Amino acid sequence: MTESRRRMDWQAWHRDYDDPDSPVSRRLVEVRARLTAALDAVPGRPRLLNLCAGDARDTVPVLAAMDREIEGCAVELDAALAEHARRSAADAGVPLDVRTGDAADPSTYADRLPIDVLMLIGVLGNISDADGETTVRAAASMLAPGGTVLWTRSNRFRSKPTHDYEDPAAWVRDRFEACGFETVEYLAPEGAPWRLGVSRLTTPSNAPLPPRLFTFVR
Ligand SMILES: C[S@@+](CC[C@H](N)C(=O)[O-])C[C@H]1O[C@@H](n2cnc3c(N)ncnc32)[C@H](O)[C@@H]1O
Repeated sequence: MTESRRRMDWQAWHRDYDDPDSPVSRRLVEVRARLTAALDAVPGRPRLLNLCAGDARDTVPVLAAMDREIEGCAVELDAALAEHARRSAADAGVPLDVRTGDAADPSTYADRLPIDVLMLIGVLGNISDADGETTVRAAASMLAPGGTVLWTRSNRFRSKPTHDYEDPAAWVRDRFEACGFETVEYLAPEGAPWRLGVSRLTTPSNAPLPPRLFTFVR
């Protein structure tokens, strides 16, 4: 990306959540439900990592409703969104470790690994296929055996596809399957521009994490 290209205003993007009928608001309901189920399935004290967490509205209410403590960490580059997440967690009495930093650099959260649940919500549609593949592969090294990744992908292409899938989310689902995951759920609501996947790690990887997972293309 050239420096002159306008960057996405992610704070403005979050305003779509103000409309309860917007696609992201409908997606949010499904993400929260899957996060609850994924955490419920983990015995003991689940370890959660949310990458590119935005204001963490998909995480804080879920953790607040749980009757046990979750070791949660959220990473967000935008300082204002990260501060919003930090404040929401504090207001809800949730001990969420919100880090203002680069989620593409695994050293930002290396001390938190391995984890039981990984959230890649609003990430894979904003990066190239090559970076998507790197990130999926890295997820297999970041999760504990049997761990779960919740991921989303819109049905739009934002950079040149490297495959002949008509729906890029189906490609992502199949990449997870090729990298040691089984598909637990793949939600593609009729007419909606988003897909939500729940993939479980069946074949953990001990491949070292690369220094960078992705770069946003917008
Ligand atoms: C599509 S939004 C998704 C936010 C949140 N996960 C949600 O679904 O509500 C993408 C978020 O990724 C953040 N982001 C972009 N690049 C990042 C990076 N390298 N590290 C951490 N966050 C990043 C943006 O600031 C933005 O908040």
